[in-house]
Amino acid sequence: MALERTLAILKPDCVRKNLIGEVIRRIQEAGFTVRALKMINLSRVDAEGFYSVHRDRPFFGELTEFMSSGPCVPIVLEKENAVADFRTLIGATDPAEADAGTIRRDFADNKGQNIVHGSDSAQNGRLESNYYFPEVEIVSNAG
Ligand code: CMP
Repeated sequence: MALERTLAILKPDCVRKNLIGEVIRRIQEAGFTVRALKMINLSRVDAEGFYSVHRDRPFFGELTEFMSSGPCVPIVLEKENAVADFRTLIGATDPAEADAGTIRRDFADNKGQNIVHGSDSAQNGRLESNYYFPEVEIVSNAG
Protein backbone atom coordinates (compact mmCIF):
# COMPACT_ATOMS: atom_id res chain seq x y z
CA MET A 1 0.00 0.00 0.00
CA ALA A 2 1.23 3.52 -0.81
CA LEU A 3 2.21 6.05 1.81
CA GLU A 4 -0.60 8.40 2.75
CA ARG A 5 -0.66 11.79 4.45
CA THR A 6 -2.98 12.95 7.18
CA LEU A 7 -3.16 16.26 9.02
CA ALA A 8 -3.33 16.13 12.80
CA ILE A 9 -4.05 19.23 14.84
CA LEU A 10 -3.30 19.16 18.55
CA LYS A 11 -6.13 21.46 19.62
CA PRO A 12 -6.00 24.29 22.21
CA ASP A 13 -7.22 21.95 24.99
CA CYS A 14 -4.31 19.58 24.25
CA VAL A 15 -1.84 22.47 24.53
CA ARG A 16 -3.48 23.86 27.73
CA LYS A 17 -3.37 20.42 29.40
CA ASN A 18 0.36 20.07 28.66
CA LEU A 19 -0.31 16.97 26.57
CA ILE A 20 1.69 17.88 23.43
CA GLY A 21 4.53 15.49 24.29
CA GLU A 22 2.30 12.61 25.38
CA VAL A 23 0.11 12.80 22.27
CA ILE A 24 3.07 13.02 19.89
CA ARG A 25 4.68 10.09 21.73
CA ARG A 26 1.58 7.97 21.11
CA ILE A 27 1.46 9.04 17.47
CA GLN A 28 5.10 8.10 16.88
CA GLU A 29 4.75 4.86 18.81
CA ALA A 30 1.90 3.94 16.44
CA GLY A 31 4.30 4.19 13.49
CA PHE A 32 3.52 7.62 12.03
CA THR A 33 6.35 9.74 10.63
CA VAL A 34 6.25 13.48 11.42
CA ARG A 35 6.85 15.43 8.20
CA ALA A 36 5.99 18.95 9.39
CA LEU A 37 5.00 20.54 12.70
CA LYS A 38 4.56 24.00 14.23
CA MET A 39 2.72 25.84 16.99
CA ILE A 40 0.42 28.66 15.90
CA ASN A 41 -2.49 30.83 17.02
CA LEU A 42 -5.37 30.55 14.56
CA SER A 43 -7.44 33.69 14.04
CA ARG A 44 -11.20 33.23 13.99
CA VAL A 45 -11.04 33.67 10.20
CA ASP A 46 -8.32 30.99 9.90
CA ALA A 47 -10.46 28.54 11.89
CA GLU A 48 -13.55 29.39 9.83
CA GLY A 49 -11.58 28.75 6.64
CA PHE A 50 -10.19 25.43 7.79
CA TYR A 51 -13.58 24.15 8.97
CA SER A 52 -15.64 25.80 6.19
CA VAL A 53 -17.21 22.44 5.28
CA HIS A 54 -19.03 22.69 8.65
CA ARG A 55 -20.19 26.32 8.23
CA ASP A 56 -23.90 25.44 8.22
CA ARG A 57 -23.70 23.18 11.29
CA PRO A 58 -25.11 24.44 14.60
CA PHE A 59 -21.74 23.93 16.32
CA PHE A 60 -19.73 26.03 13.82
CA GLY A 61 -19.53 29.10 16.09
CA GLU A 62 -18.50 27.06 19.12
CA LEU A 63 -15.94 25.11 17.07
CA THR A 64 -14.24 28.13 15.52
CA GLU A 65 -14.27 30.07 18.81
CA PHE A 66 -12.60 27.14 20.54
CA MET A 67 -10.02 26.55 17.79
CA SER A 68 -8.98 30.21 17.97
CA SER A 69 -8.94 30.32 21.80
CA GLY A 70 -5.24 29.49 22.17
CA PRO A 71 -2.27 27.96 20.38
CA CYS A 72 -2.60 24.70 18.50
CA VAL A 73 -0.10 22.37 16.83
CA PRO A 74 -0.76 21.22 13.25
CA ILE A 75 1.31 18.18 12.28
CA VAL A 76 1.68 16.50 8.89
CA LEU A 77 1.89 12.74 9.39
CA GLU A 78 2.76 10.02 6.91
CA LYS A 79 2.25 6.28 6.99
CA GLU A 80 0.63 3.54 4.97
CA ASN A 81 -3.13 3.84 5.54
CA ALA A 82 -2.47 7.00 7.58
CA VAL A 83 -6.00 8.44 7.49
CA ALA A 84 -7.84 5.38 8.78
CA ASP A 85 -5.08 4.34 11.20
CA PHE A 86 -4.95 7.82 12.71
CA ARG A 87 -8.71 7.89 13.22
CA THR A 88 -8.45 4.54 14.99
CA LEU A 89 -5.66 5.90 17.22
CA ILE A 90 -7.62 9.01 18.26
CA GLY A 91 -11.06 7.38 18.61
CA ALA A 92 -14.58 8.65 17.94
CA THR A 93 -15.33 12.40 17.80
CA ASP A 94 -17.26 12.13 21.08
CA PRO A 95 -14.84 10.86 23.75
CA ALA A 96 -17.74 9.14 25.53
CA GLU A 97 -18.11 6.92 22.45
CA ALA A 98 -14.38 6.43 21.83
CA ASP A 99 -12.76 3.04 22.41
CA ALA A 100 -10.67 2.46 25.54
CA GLY A 101 -7.03 3.37 25.04
CA THR A 102 -7.68 5.97 22.34
CA ILE A 103 -6.32 9.50 22.68
CA ARG A 104 -9.76 11.12 22.89
CA ARG A 105 -11.11 8.60 25.37
CA ASP A 106 -8.11 9.11 27.62
CA PHE A 107 -7.81 12.91 27.44
CA ALA A 108 -10.82 14.69 25.88
CA ASP A 109 -13.59 16.40 27.87
CA ASN A 110 -16.34 16.44 25.23
CA LYS A 111 -17.18 16.40 21.53
CA GLY A 112 -16.25 20.04 21.01
CA GLN A 113 -13.02 19.97 23.02
CA ASN A 114 -11.66 16.67 21.83
CA ILE A 115 -7.85 17.16 21.95
CA VAL A 116 -6.99 16.32 18.34
CA HIS A 117 -8.20 16.62 14.76
CA GLY A 118 -7.54 14.05 12.02
CA SER A 119 -8.30 14.28 8.29
CA ASP A 120 -11.25 12.19 7.06
CA SER A 121 -9.89 11.16 3.63
CA ALA A 122 -6.59 10.89 1.76
CA GLN A 123 -7.58 13.81 -0.43
CA ASN A 124 -8.35 15.97 2.61
CA GLY A 125 -5.10 14.77 4.20
CA ARG A 126 -3.22 16.50 1.40
CA LEU A 127 -5.46 19.56 1.17
CA GLU A 128 -5.51 20.13 4.93
CA SER A 129 -1.71 19.65 5.19
CA ASN A 130 -1.27 22.39 2.61
CA TYR A 131 -3.68 24.67 4.53
CA TYR A 132 -0.96 25.00 7.19
CA PHE A 133 2.24 24.07 5.36
CA PRO A 134 3.36 24.96 1.83
CA GLU A 135 4.87 21.92 0.16
CA VAL A 136 8.40 23.30 0.71
CA GLU A 137 7.89 23.07 4.52
CA ILE A 138 6.96 19.36 4.40
CA VAL A 139 10.16 17.34 4.64
CA SER A 140 10.67 14.10 2.77
CA ASN A 141 13.72 12.80 4.66
CA ALA A 142 12.41 12.40 8.25
CA GLY A 143 12.04 9.06 9.99
P1 CMP B 1 -12.72 17.48 14.17
O1 CMP B 1 -12.18 16.14 13.84
O2 CMP B 1 -11.73 18.57 14.42
O3 CMP B 1 -13.72 17.95 13.00
C1 CMP B 1 -14.83 18.79 13.21
C2 CMP B 1 -15.04 19.10 14.65
O4 CMP B 1 -16.30 19.60 14.98
C3 CMP B 1 -14.94 17.82 15.44
O5 CMP B 1 -13.62 17.35 15.47
C4 CMP B 1 -15.54 18.23 16.78
O6 CMP B 1 -14.57 18.77 17.66
C5 CMP B 1 -16.49 19.32 16.36
N1 CMP B 1 -17.87 18.86 16.58
C6 CMP B 1 -18.50 17.89 15.92
N2 CMP B 1 -19.76 17.74 16.40
C7 CMP B 1 -19.90 18.66 17.39
C8 CMP B 1 -20.97 19.01 18.25
N3 CMP B 1 -22.14 18.38 18.20
N4 CMP B 1 -20.76 20.00 19.14
C9 CMP B 1 -19.57 20.67 19.19
N5 CMP B 1 -18.52 20.36 18.38
C10 CMP B 1 -18.68 19.38 17.49
